[in-house]
Amino acid sequence: MGRLVVVSNRVATPTETKGSAGGLAVAVFGALKDMGGVWFGWSGDVVSETVANAGPTLEVDGAVTFATVGLPKRDYDQYYRGFSNAMLWPVFHYRNDLAVYERDEYAGYRRVNAWLAHKLIKLLEPDDIVWVHDYHLIPFAEALRQEGIGNRIGFFLHIPFPSPQVLLNVPPHEELAKSLCCYDLLGFQTETDRTAFHDYIVRCAHGAVEPAGQVRAFGRTLRTGVYRIGVFPDEIAAQAERYESRQHVLELKESLEGRKLIMSVDRLDYSKGLVERFRAFEQLLEKAPEWRGNVTLVQIAPPTRSDVDTYQQIRQNLEYEAGRINGRYSGLDYTAIRYLNQRYDRLKLMSLFRESQVGFVTPLRDGMNLVAKEYVAAQNPDDPGVLVLSCFAGAADELTAALLVNPHDLTGMSEALQRALSMPLAERKRRHEANMAVLRKNNLGVWRDAFLADLRGTPSPSAADA
Ligand code: G6P
Repeated sequence: MGRLVVVSNRVATPTETKGSAGGLAVAVFGALKDMGGVWFGWSGDVVSETVANAGPTLEVDGAVTFATVGLPKRDYDQYYRGFSNAMLWPVFHYRNDLAVYERDEYAGYRRVNAWLAHKLIKLLEPDDIVWVHDYHLIPFAEALRQEGIGNRIGFFLHIPFPSPQVLLNVPPHEELAKSLCCYDLLGFQTETDRTAFHDYIVRCAHGAVEPAGQVRAFGRTLRTGVYRIGVFPDEIAAQAERYESRQHVLELKESLEGRKLIMSVDRLDYSKGLVERFRAFEQLLEKAPEWRGNVTLVQIAPPTRSDVDTYQQIRQNLEYEAGRINGRYSGLDYTAIRYLNQRYDRLKLMSLFRESQVGFVTPLRDGMNLVAKEYVAAQNPDDPGVLVLSCFAGAADELTAALLVNPHDLTGMSEALQRALSMPLAERKRRHEANMAVLRKNNLGVWRDAFLADLRGTPSPSAADA
């Protein structure tokens, strides 16, 4: 059996794969350890052209090699900040209004993909299977094929795939679809995403989709599948319990003075519906005065992509809303919304989830949303909190025992909060057990193994197909 080569824009450090980072890094590393292989991608650093060209930097940990390259400023601007995050990210999250297209940036996006592919080739062996992750790297397989690489290459999209009418807003949509068809297997988070891709193939690319999900388009044949990314729920539960009596939890508890706690954690991204969430919380305090002074919303929102204009805007909006609502409803000894624009230790977060009565996860669009799954997993089964979840998160397909809300319906969200805050123990337990059963069944290992098994099972490709 060949080795595994994982390619992603960000590469976990060897230390992160030992457990401190998200479960995803740990799961991917698990497969790399078993099969032996390489994890390749951007180091996260902006460097001079000379340093970038000297890469990759290799770090060996047992059977796994971490191979990373820095990016020169122009490449970072065009490939990462520009086309990936100012064009693809908003459109794939149905925010065409925020998308900015520059031809130069798109050219840079393709150039960096080709450069990265070229760098990887030196590390690649003929029977390796290659697993590429996310929207930064759509043209990666095409670039490898153009260099004569005939290995099996799969792609997993972590974010939503938009419906064709929305995708048409990306000027080079056809080139991107053609690039996607250079993979042997395309994995999506939900059936909705996969169907959207199939619709594009049939309606816009004159391709064909067979009932078993085989796609024929642009002269290639490939497979598609749905692989719902998950968590390792029992490990999260154990971590949350272990941290339960630590200082940070005790301090939070003391400061709440018996008030109920609603927890929200998201990167500070406009796709997460943060402003709508704050306003729904405001409505709760407005319409149900008995909760004034008796419930606190803790929103942890670490900064992200802060050099993209739209992210500066969402930060300002949120600061304004937090200040406005707190001005209206806080007291001398009570803060309605505690808003932290900071990173927070992941293990500590799990114990804060366990301490809270409600998890409030309401993105406007989200590929999956692992915070929702982590929230459920971190609960104390004898006294679980309630998850209030957006119907537009991929996780809503599975966590059907959550209180599902439409994030545009502020009144609906404030009613769901009321219901969650006063839900009887028996109902909370029933909902929690149902959600936990799904998390156990579709855990992160299942996601990884199903994708890799399907990729191995794809017919042997030929570089000439590209
Ligand atoms: C999303 C994307 C990931 C990305 C992460 C953090 O989850 O799907 O590919 O790594 O956001 O964003 P950043 O731009 O900091 O890598």
